Amino acid sequence: MNSNRKFLRFFDSEDYETEVPQSDEQKKIDPPLFQQPYPEDVKLIDLIPPEEFTIVKTPFLDLVNRRKSRRKYTEESILLEELSFLLWSTQGVKKVLKSGLGVYRTVPSSGAKSPFETFLVVNRVEGLEPGLYRYISFTHQLMFIKQIDDAEKKMGELAYNQNFVGRAPVIFYWTVVPYRTEWRYTVLSHKFIAVDLGIVCQSLYMACEAINLGTVAIGYYEQNKLDKLFELDTEEEFVVLLAPVGKFAKEKKLSEFFKYPKKEINLDNLVKLTGKYKRKNEVEFIVKEDNLVIKVGEFEEILEPYNEMEFIGEFSSRALRFEFTEEGKPEKVVVLTAEDEVIELEYLEQTI
Ligand SMILES: Cc1cc2nc3c(=O)[nH]c(=O)nc-3n(C[C@H](O)[C@H](O)[C@H](O)COP(=O)(O)O)c2cc1C
Repeated sequence: MNSNRKFLRFFDSEDYETEVPQSDEQKKIDPPLFQQPYPEDVKLIDLIPPEEFTIVKTPFLDLVNRRKSRRKYTEESILLEELSFLLWSTQGVKKVLKSGLGVYRTVPSSGAKSPFETFLVVNRVEGLEPGLYRYISFTHQLMFIKQIDDAEKKMGELAYNQNFVGRAPVIFYWTVVPYRTEWRYTVLSHKFIAVDLGIVCQSLYMACEAINLGTVAIGYYEQNKLDKLFELDTEEEFVVLLAPVGKFAKEKKLSEFFKYPKKEINLDNLVKLTGKYKRKNEVEFIVKEDNLVIKVGEFEEILEPYNEMEFIGEFSSRALRFEFTEEGKPEKVVVLTAEDEVIELEYLEQTI
């Protein structure tokens, strides 16, 4: 693991010469293309140009304060203007350098190399046929690539079964073409690419928030299967991050979920809540240093008591309620998930 850390570091000037090889730029090799080629005769779809946007009104500080990862989307479609605005905000091209050395975009990038391409899986965007698209950023257009059968289910599965991903009206997928950056920065490139990618993703978060849409960065995805679906030459280009986008459903208030009033608890009673439960995976509740802790695989999360039976989660769940049979036997745990869905975990066994 520590060896993987290394790429995040830079070099002191006295080490630079020995650590950083001569670049293809220094060797006078022609620069790469800053947009992947596409067939000349393909019909491109015009997007709404930035000077015609009418949708953005929110003050910046409100965006900063409101931003959060949003994982529950309504059935509503999004508008072509909204999608145009999101693509413009994340990868819009302001100037292609005449020297052929890079591109100025709405987002910064090391050496103006901006090594990403944007693919979209469109489920519900007004005026667009559902399917896989690529953003042709140089001309602010879209290229339709193909239909995807059963996209909602498939795109959830390809995000490690994070099913809310597939249910979004549109999903952004960023691929990287590392050579665009490596051409100049050789071994320094990979840190720069990671930073560039974060900026693109944060721009999507802020742009979504500005027009009352929601998104969440998704780092867990099936690498090879997605690369294959997008027909990428993985020596040159591969998927690096994705983000579903949609109108976010209003979150359930915790007070609507809880059945019992807020109350101080007796810590001795925590023990009766411990045990193993199951839905798809096994989940265990244990007591650790006077806290009730939920354990899923190697992940542990402390739960904050709301009352003797109900708890507030930190990360994977928003809230939980333990339910017992009339005879007082543990029966199930009802969970309000991070995706704002209510699910039930069935009781398996006591473990203490
Ligand atoms: C690179 C990256 C990868 C992430 N991957 C996932 C993911 O696979 N699934 C998910 O639900 N959230 C994912 N997140 C969202 C984080 O869980 C979230 O940003 C974090 O919990 C903080 O919450 P907030 O964004 O609401 O402030 C990811 C975030 C980043 C920046």
